[in-house]
Amino acid sequence: MKLTRCGIKDLRNIKDAEIEFSDGLNLIRGNNAQGKTTVLEAVYIFARGRSFRTNKEAEFISFDSDTSEISIEYEDAHRKNVMSAHYSKDENRKLYKNGIQIKKTSEFIGNFRAVLFTPDHLSLIKSAASDRRLFLDVALSQITPSYINRVKTYNNLLTQRNALLKDKRAESDDMRLLFESVAEQMAPAAAAITVMRRRYCSMLDEYVSSYFEQMTDGAEKTQTVYESCVSDDPDILSDQAEVERLYISKFTENLSREIYMKTSLYGPQKDDIDIKLNGYSSRRFCSQGQQRSLAIALKLAEGDISRDRTGEYPVYLLDDISGELDSKRNGFFMSKLGSRQIIITSCNMKSNKKFDRVITMKNGEAKY
Ligand SMILES: Nc1ncnc2c1ncn2[C@@H]1O[C@H](COP(=O)(O)OP(=O)(O)O)[C@@H](O)[C@H]1O
Ligand SMILES: [Mg+2]
Repeated sequence: MKLTRCGIKDLRNIKDAEIEFSDGLNLIRGNNAQGKTTVLEAVYIFARGRSFRTNKEAEFISFDSDTSEISIEYEDAHRKNVMSAHYSKDENRKLYKNGIQIKKTSEFIGNFRAVLFTPDHLSLIKSAASDRRLFLDVALSQITPSYINRVKTYNNLLTQRNALLKDKRAESDDMRLLFESVAEQMAPAAAAITVMRRRYCSMLDEYVSSYFEQMTDGAEKTQTVYESCVSDDPDILSDQAEVERLYISKFTENLSREIYMKTSLYGPQKDDIDIKLNGYSSRRFCSQGQQRSLAIALKLAEGDISRDRTGEYPVYLLDDISGELDSKRNGFFMSKLGSRQIIITSCNMKSNKKFDRVITMKNGEAKY
């Protein structure tokens, strides 16, 4: 997958920019607050379906404008494509691929695929479980369109269920029947999400352990496991029908406690990934250096899995991470990325010959 161009109008401090990218290594440089990350934010909207910096679209539209327009041109194995996204402070966003409007997010995500690596990801191993679930959700949604629909269905039902749990009549017989019916609707979506995430973790496991062994010269072994609230047996977690049955029990057996707590206590929204280092949970025991090495291994693995599933490497978007990594880790990461297309932002990197293209951002304007 190759990104060839990005057009940005009225996104944060960028009024109007046309940026062309080269195959290989692209550097976006400039002082702080010039618009470097905004370029990555724009590009990544097409991979993730929304901004990685805010959930509120109105926030990224330039202060002095009511609308914002972003577009990309990219080549996949089949053809050249154009995608665009139009945002307005008072209307819903509009998304297009090759001139045709796309109404469903599940049809928008998965076309242009990218891996984003920001300084926040360096603490992914020890940060909140929700960050690790988000990592899985974003990676899976780019390679499995049905995943997004399952998550959407599940989240809608979960919101309904949580509202019912807060209801004053939650203990009544009528409500019991309603809870049973919601459990039956939720279980298939919960099971599909669990099975897909567990399968993704077993793919991660192979790549992460190989990268981590290389980084530590074989001294440390990793095991990446998906922690589900229904079972810790990998055989059970790959059997969707069985997982579904287990969820129905979970959603019904603990109802009194959930009514008391006024919230759902079980489901994929409680799950986590753990990477064991020589048998010990990295979440609890790893050092900052190990944490960073694992984050690198995860981000490399994310691209490898995407290539295995789609036949092409995704584009790598690296936001100012080289300043955060020591030269050994940075060197390892860059050497493993090899000839993939990379767009890297930095405020202190010198532009030497190793870059195929250097773009300088100044006051929201792009210069070559
Ligand atoms: N909605 C907005 N309208 C105008 N400017 C904004 C908006 N949101 C953020 N900014 C400004 O955009 C600038 C660029 O930010 P950013 O892309 O993060 O810079 P860099 O990565 O180069 O440090 C910052 O000065 C920020 O204050
Ligand atoms: Mg930045």
